Amino acid sequence: MNRKVTVFGAGFVGSTTAQRIAEKQLADVVMVDIIEGMPQGKALDMTESACLEGFDAKITGSNDPAACAGSDLIVVTSGIARKPGMSRDDLLKTNAGIVGSVCDTIKKNAPNATVIIVSNPLDVMTYLAGVKLGFPKNKIIGMAGVLDSARFRCFIAMELDVSMRDVDAMVLGGHGDDMVPLVRYATVAGIKVEDLIPKDKLDALVTRTRNGGAEIVALLKTGSAYYAPSASVVEMVASILHDEKRVLPCAAWCTGQYGVKDMFVGVPCVLGKNGVEKIIELKLGNDELAQLKKSADHVLENVKRLNL
Ligand code: 2OP
Repeated sequence: MNRKVTVFGAGFVGSTTAQRIAEKQLADVVMVDIIEGMPQGKALDMTESACLEGFDAKITGSNDPAACAGSDLIVVTSGIARKPGMSRDDLLKTNAGIVGSVCDTIKKNAPNATVIIVSNPLDVMTYLAGVKLGFPKNKIIGMAGVLDSARFRCFIAMELDVSMRDVDAMVLGGHGDDMVPLVRYATVAGIKVEDLIPKDKLDALVTRTRNGGAEIVALLKTGSAYYAPSASVVEMVASILHDEKRVLPCAAWCTGQYGVKDMFVGVPCVLGKNGVEKIIELKLGNDELAQLKKSADHVLENVKRLNL
């Protein structure tokens, strides 16, 4: 294994991301966290599972951010998570400080890495990373759309009692309450979901998707989701490292697509070895475009709060 992925933040999202990357043999993984001994302990624990799970990827932990040197890809999960009743936007100030300093380290030590941002509020932290890193924008990508789409797909499959694998759907826009689940493009084995689920039920699934993160926070009480978020990150990691060119919704730098300019927001992307290789422009209806604009405006409002 000679590819290297660094995961900043060895909390639940970071450590499950590292675990999935190693178990899938995608790369050697370094976990970096400020808590002394914690990333090292988790790395050793995961390493001890290697003979049982059958992987050879090396996992190490470090408290030194410079351990990211030479990474092909870096995943940033650092920051605090929501508590019940908090919105992702409530995390803005604290996480901007943390993500900002992580990006300074990345810029210095791993200038050729592709960077996936996971910390919340997602679209705003991705914007901050764009400014701080100064890397080509195709190499800075926010993870949210894959997760929001996975939730939507899951709820559709549960409603219809069909295999999760046969449901396809995409959620665009910012990773917030005004995200845009594209009902019109949701399918089950190629059949339009609109033909299978009555409108009022579908509306309820859309609402549940928008509220998907908060639903988990309310249940966990002391943290936020991590199984589906880490699986979402790893789908993006695999597409980049294997140059799979998967079509995945990601927070990508828009230069006018969907009427969004000079901002990161969730749009369908082709992910390959060069990061975001293309943004696919679907023909959206006026209502869908208006929803996307509203969501992008919300992101912009919060970007302004960064005072960059
Ligand atoms: C979520 O949607 C934490 O934002 C993340 O679960």
